[in-house]
Amino acid sequence: MDHLKHIFIISLVLLFSKLNAQTKNDEKYRPQIHFSPKDKWMNDPNGMVYHNGIYHLFYQYYPDSNVWGPMHWGHATSEDMIHWKHQSIALYPDSLGYIFSGSAVVDVNNTSGFAVNGKAPLVAIFTHHDPNGEASGKNDYQYQSIAYSIDDGKSWIKYKNNPVVRNPGIKDFRDPKVMWFAKEKKWIMTLATLDRITFYSSNDLKNWTKESEFGENAGAHGGVWECPDLLPLDYNGKKVWVLIVSINPGGPNGGSATQYFLGDFDGKNFLPFSTETKWLDYGPDDYAGVTWSNTGNRRIFLGWMSNWSYATVVPTETWRSAMTIPRELKIMKVNKELFVASTPVKEMAAISSKPIDISKKIPELNFPGMIELEMKKPEDFSIVISNDQREELLIGYDKATNRYFIDRTKSGIINFHEEFPAQHFAPRLSNKSKIKISLVIDVSSVELFADDGLTVMTGVFFPGKSYDQLRIQSTNHIPLKSLRYVKLNNIWK
Ligand code: FRU
Repeated sequence: MDHLKHIFIISLVLLFSKLNAQTKNDEKYRPQIHFSPKDKWMNDPNGMVYHNGIYHLFYQYYPDSNVWGPMHWGHATSEDMIHWKHQSIALYPDSLGYIFSGSAVVDVNNTSGFAVNGKAPLVAIFTHHDPNGEASGKNDYQYQSIAYSIDDGKSWIKYKNNPVVRNPGIKDFRDPKVMWFAKEKKWIMTLATLDRITFYSSNDLKNWTKESEFGENAGAHGGVWECPDLLPLDYNGKKVWVLIVSINPGGPNGGSATQYFLGDFDGKNFLPFSTETKWLDYGPDDYAGVTWSNTGNRRIFLGWMSNWSYATVVPTETWRSAMTIPRELKIMKVNKELFVASTPVKEMAAISSKPIDISKKIPELNFPGMIELEMKKPEDFSIVISNDQREELLIGYDKATNRYFIDRTKSGIINFHEEFPAQHFAPRLSNKSKIKISLVIDVSSVELFADDGLTVMTGVFFPGKSYDQLRIQSTNHIPLKSLRYVKLNNIWK
């Protein structure tokens, strides 16, 4: 009897520590409203697919260290893209190599033949990176492979005839993003191939034919092209195709960043309206972002909230980095030009308290929280978020150059990398006189959505002590229309 009692108590203790492990999310700098891995290293979001009411998020994961290493696909699930449940690792490295970035689709018509008992399979399309090939000086060590799941993403089976796209001799040959091109009933793979994008098509996700290339003479080329995405957005009843391409280095504020092109896609070629680069996010910390597949008419983007310049040395120990807030993409027109605007998904309402008016008097605040500010006309200003240790983060607008900025030069711990402490700028694209900005502030990140998402900036920071003060400063009178604070509730509780 005593023996049974003993076992019962041990089981209780084990259960409790397991629950505790799942919910322990209060370390210093641990994001409270953004997805981050329970522990160890994470980079790009991967395989984002919506299926049976669940948003799946896979991610580049190295479970043995807090710096980059042999890549796996970590896995998390959510019903609202805000609250997440950690799942077990979905894909492990194998004899073909590490599991690099890629995408996932629901194969509704069973084109792949992977269905069992009529249940549509999920198919993941990813890059195999062979470290031995790389070490031996070859240039064909990255190729595309697939895996499928017949239990709604819980477990994955790698296809026996991998790889499905062989390497033609291009060193950087990776990050397949696959979508269904309904008009011609075929799959399109958008692949980053060194300094351009290569499009492939397939009827069954297994046999791929090269269709075209884009970008050798378009856009920014300060670094290698990675993690592309091709997606249609509706604009006044017409389809506008967006080609998203991450680039590292060569971002507008140094290091990694994500550019995009707008144009048409005819099933074979991407035909850009312009070959000039536009930036999805001007800040230093939004990289490798792509959109969820199978979300109907909604296009929801999620990025990795870091920068390859310093990602491996940011001052967090048990885990490294987080994802951005999921953002809904839409087309907006300014004068005669089209842009992609991004705003936090409406599901944020689930963690938002009632907005409070702080325009008369700013109380002591705590973050995570949202700051919403409206001004009748453009005027210089800085929103200063700080603590009593004189550490501060400035987010503002400079009228003379018509630019928004984030200044983290005095934001706290900044000396872990020389490129970290800086003031970052982004052009104001809107032509409206009213300025409207919304800041999503977590304990170690800020996301600035200006003018309904036309100009976006994301930056991380590491104050010695949490910020709890806010003030607005300007050399001139600020034509304030409104200033509101929205408390955001911890997603892990
Ligand atoms: C982008 C990237 C991808 C690659 C992955 C490896 O951040 O370099 O191109 O697939 O990370 O982890």
